[in-house]
Amino acid sequence: MDIYNFGKELIVKAGQFVETRMTKEFKVDSKSNPNDLVTDVDKETEQFLYTEIQEKFPDHRIIGEEGHGESITDTKGVIWIVDPIDGTLNFVHQGENFAISIGVFIDGEPYCGLIYDCMKRDLYHAKYQQGAFLNDQPLAHAKNEPLSKSLIATNPKRILREETKDSFFNIMAASRSVRSYGSAALEFAMLAKGQIAALLFIKLHPWDYTGGQIITGELGYKTTDIHGNALPLLGTTSVISGNPEIHSDILEFFKNDKTLHTFHDDFHNL
Ligand code: IPD
Ligand code: CA
Ligand code: CA
Repeated sequence: MDIYNFGKELIVKAGQFVETRMTKEFKVDSKSNPNDLVTDVDKETEQFLYTEIQEKFPDHRIIGEEGHGESITDTKGVIWIVDPIDGTLNFVHQGENFAISIGVFIDGEPYCGLIYDCMKRDLYHAKYQQGAFLNDQPLAHAKNEPLSKSLIATNPKRILREETKDSFFNIMAASRSVRSYGSAALEFAMLAKGQIAALLFIKLHPWDYTGGQIITGELGYKTTDIHGNALPLLGTTSVISGNPEIHSDILEFFKNDKTLHTFHDDFHNL
């Protein structure tokens, strides 16, 4: 079985693991701050993914949010970038609206993207240059709508800073309206379905965006950082994704915001 088909089966199995595991008691801890939560289910699901991938493909490497691959500093060979639960706050508070996200790269080039909405049992998937699908249905190509006629998504809590608020607030004001769903992977899935036209984040990790970037890339959506640069596979970055028209509209807002650019580059240690 090739990596793509194995990945599709694996992510659904991991989703079943989460569904079963969450019915039993689990511990909730905080990480970098009291609102940055992690549960036993995040950790056990990452371990499940790691073990299955290693068993099938011993030479593949895995980078996961909960600690696997922390020492990886190059992108040679096959790398799986996994977020065992994207939307942990939703997982803890709502028991839904979270997803498993996987991006697979070969020598730093995209190979396939997978997002599994466990509770809806919806699998979003794409193999590079072969189209993107929701379960068995092909997803439609991006439509070019301007910002003024579009719903956009962001994480409001992250942009409530002196250095970030001006451009972000102006973009929000220029849009039709703003949504915040609490899972970057599911927001990419909504972009893929055409339910929102853009998403904007000041800080994400590769496990938050690689699966979604590959899937939406197949549909003509563009994803860069606030400068218009390609996103890294290692490290953190800002993420702006949308149809080509809205993506360029949004970058225009950032162009002359020197305060944001300085803050951004220090923040991500570029
Ligand atoms: C978070 C979600 C959220 C985004 C945060 C991420 P996590 O991931 O994707 O939507 O705004 O920046 O950290 O911690 O739930 O895996
Ligand atoms: Ca995440
Ligand atoms: Ca996570």
